[in-house]
Amino acid sequence: MCGIIGYTGTASAVDVLIEGLATLEYRGYDSAGVAVVTGNGDPRVRVVKRAGKLANLREMLEGTWLDGTTGVGHTRWATHGEPSDRNSHPHQDADGDLAIIHNGIFENFAELRAGLAADGHEFASDTDTEVIAHLIGRSYDDAGVGGDGADGAVALAGAVRTALRRVEGAFAIAVVDRRSPDTIVASRREAPLVLGHLDGASLLSSDVAGLIRYTRDVEALLDDQVAILTPEGITVTDLDGNTTEGHRYTVDWDIDVAEKQGYPHFMLKEIHEQPGALHETLLGRTRDGRIVLDEQRLDDDDFRHLDKVYVVACGTSYHAGMVAKYALEHWARVPVEVEIASEFRYRDPILTQHTLVVAISQSGETADTLAAAAHARAQRARVVAISNVVGSSLAREADAVLYTRAGPEIAVASTKAFTTQILALELLALFLAQLRRAMFPDEWRDQLRRMETLPDLMEQVFGQETAIRQLAASVAHASYVMFIGRQVGLPIALEGALKLKEISYLHAEGFPAGEMKHGPIALIEQGGPVVALATAGHVRGKIVSNIAEVKARGAMVVAIATEGDTEIKAHADHVIYVPDVHELLYPMLTVVPLQLLAYFIATELGCDVDQPRNLAKTVTVE
Ligand code: G6P
Repeated sequence: MCGIIGYTGTASAVDVLIEGLATLEYRGYDSAGVAVVTGNGDPRVRVVKRAGKLANLREMLEGTWLDGTTGVGHTRWATHGEPSDRNSHPHQDADGDLAIIHNGIFENFAELRAGLAADGHEFASDTDTEVIAHLIGRSYDDAGVGGDGADGAVALAGAVRTALRRVEGAFAIAVVDRRSPDTIVASRREAPLVLGHLDGASLLSSDVAGLIRYTRDVEALLDDQVAILTPEGITVTDLDGNTTEGHRYTVDWDIDVAEKQGYPHFMLKEIHEQPGALHETLLGRTRDGRIVLDEQRLDDDDFRHLDKVYVVACGTSYHAGMVAKYALEHWARVPVEVEIASEFRYRDPILTQHTLVVAISQSGETADTLAAAAHARAQRARVVAISNVVGSSLAREADAVLYTRAGPEIAVASTKAFTTQILALELLALFLAQLRRAMFPDEWRDQLRRMETLPDLMEQVFGQETAIRQLAASVAHASYVMFIGRQVGLPIALEGALKLKEISYLHAEGFPAGEMKHGPIALIEQGGPVVALATAGHVRGKIVSNIAEVKARGAMVVAIATEGDTEIKAHADHVIYVPDVHELLYPMLTVVPLQLLAYFIATELGCDVDQPRNLAKTVTVE
């Protein structure tokens, strides 16, 4: 979940790297560093790195002359070794000939480190990455075929391949070496790495956002491929050195989508982008009177004969999966279990060829979700991916894909990915309902029509932004905030609490409203805020009773209710209204005020909204 970037061309490498790292900082911000090959006659690899955010590195670079047109850069989310200057990437080999950046974990690094230490290697950091730097350096020396320029590039690629054959784990790496001054050698296994092709230069990045300023012509490197980048172009080989290729495609979105466009934070911008994102996600979903997926490598019969669905995901995507259960069971009439991806594969779930596993991941790179999907496929289950990233690892490995079209999501706290995931999952439910004849055609068409009204309805919710901001100011200094809901209101209560805790560090928990009296109600203090999802539907009466229970114990209640429900004012201290929709569509509207509430509380408390402490956007470690 670190961010990696590399450039070789004719421009100043450090400028390109710093600009790229600014785009990738969402992936981790415990430290940042660059390695640039400097000096024409006698090239050297120079490393500059600093603990803390990119701003610290920028400050350090101000007083440093770092010319050179080839280099790599890294922004870190610490795994092995505390965040510190010495544990920051890039790391170098024993002789300082080469430098490496790495995203992921080398699982057998302790054993490799012990072997190298026994041969006299000394290490300057606690990281697994430095061990691999030494291993590559040693492979280079052992091969004894080193040379300068083109020979050096061949030798470096050979050394990287030799070293990688000995490592276990997940990684994306990029290496520069003084003996091949205009070359970067990169590789990956179960961690993302995208290459950028352009005239006179080559780039690499953890994601497309790091490349899009320069090129739309990109190539996703596949597992165990090794790329050799020079200003003249990129060649790709497998671990045995045979020429091969990655997944090359053209990016169809613009850089301004990945910039703030006048908003103070990406999170607020992304909250406001949701109506557009829902609209995009709905476009072109029917063909010849049928709902269609984006990619389908399965027969319709595979879907018809399903007897069980597992939904697996992490974090916010898991909450979208919880909403999907209601739609899949109600519309497609198939039993559904929703499970945290990191738990799923360790409990030997019962999977057959009639099981469908729906794996949800905004990034399509979350290690646990990828592993859960791989486990399901190994057991012959079918896998449908819901992802926001075209060509992501999850999308490539699934039997079918439905893309959310939210555009790049930069803020660590997920917002537009969540609402578009719910929409995509509900489209999948209608797709299954249609194939399994669980709904009449006019029924699923009605539902599609209702979904099409969502972008406009969501715009109406923004009309209450000022009121939500005022409410946030009064809640921000509470010692906790509870969220309660029932049925589809429950995942939204959990998501509201997750949003709040991750960006404001306020203790926030979500509970099934009916469970309050079995324990959590003991926590209620005089004036303690409780946010209740109380929209219209068959559980509204029940939730109103639960509101009365917490109110009787002194809670300050904020109700999220359906427009026109004036009666709710008798039970709640504050009411935020959302437009009236079908019960299963409410989550996409009710989560918006909770996202705004979390955002305004966090800004009220002066928190770093887009980059909350200890978190990262894409979790590519287990
Ligand atoms: C991280 C992010 C969350 C996200 C989760 C799953 O924890 O901070 O916002 O929900 O990963 O990510 P995914 O890309 O798999 O949806």
